[in-house]
Amino acid sequence: MNRRDFIRVLSVGTMALYVSGCGSAVVQSDRPNQTNQPVESNADEPSTIVSGGSTMNIVVINSSPHSESQSTSRFLAQKFIDGASSKGHNIFTFDAANEDTHPCKGCDHCHMDGDCIFKDAIETKLMPKMLDADLLVLVTPLYYFGMSAQLKIIVDRFYSRTTRLSGKKSIMISTAWNSADWTMEALQNHYETLVRYMDWTDVGQVWATGCGTRSMVERSEFGDVAYNIGAGL
Ligand SMILES: Cc1cc2nc3c(=O)[nH]c(=O)nc-3n(C[C@H](O)[C@H](O)[C@H](O)COP(=O)(O)O)c2cc1C
Repeated sequence: MNRRDFIRVLSVGTMALYVSGCGSAVVQSDRPNQTNQPVESNADEPSTIVSGGSTMNIVVINSSPHSESQSTSRFLAQKFIDGASSKGHNIFTFDAANEDTHPCKGCDHCHMDGDCIFKDAIETKLMPKMLDADLLVLVTPLYYFGMSAQLKIIVDRFYSRTTRLSGKKSIMISTAWNSADWTMEALQNHYETLVRYMDWTDVGQVWATGCGTRSMVERSEFGDVAYNIGAGL
């Protein structure tokens, strides 16, 4: 496989839906599923096992530099938000690509549990919402088989409040051009390692392969799946 395949592949691959035993919906291409047991799709019948019926504070972190009308990952994030809003959850959205953000410089001023030297939008707008959140939703286009730099800046800034951000619920939504079965493998491994380290509970993953443009994602099944994950909280 040519490493630049993602800019040349034009067709949408065969998609399969997997739902794990803990209520998380995982959508990906037809790659072998190592961490989730494939069962019959319940995407049309959302349950409320995640919130237990309580209103949750949800933080959605978008990270595409594409506009609201052009972005594929923002499209899925909005579908998720529509679903979660229909159940009355409180949602705060952060636009990592267009806010004032700075990468962690490793100064350790925070000692992993305190104020950051940067008084940017991450520290003043996003961090208070994240600390108060029940659920964090990470949204990214696939960039060279990982998350966007815009999202990685946010993730690295978790460092200042590592313990206080632990124990939350999380969701990952990503879009990619490629539809090869290994397209999302590295990012999924990264996300699941992050979940493990942060002691989060993963409650949903959307790996939207074959979604390189707005029209591709709009005609895919992933919009409905993202909506149903939100509506199933
Ligand atoms: C810098 C860059 C790197 C990319 N890397 C990949 C990649 O590794 N694999 C892939 O399938 N698509 C890759 N793409 C395509 C995007 O993931 C894809 O077009 C996605 O739908 C864009 O989402 P957005 O509109 O929300 O930004 C890349 C695009 C850009 C601009």
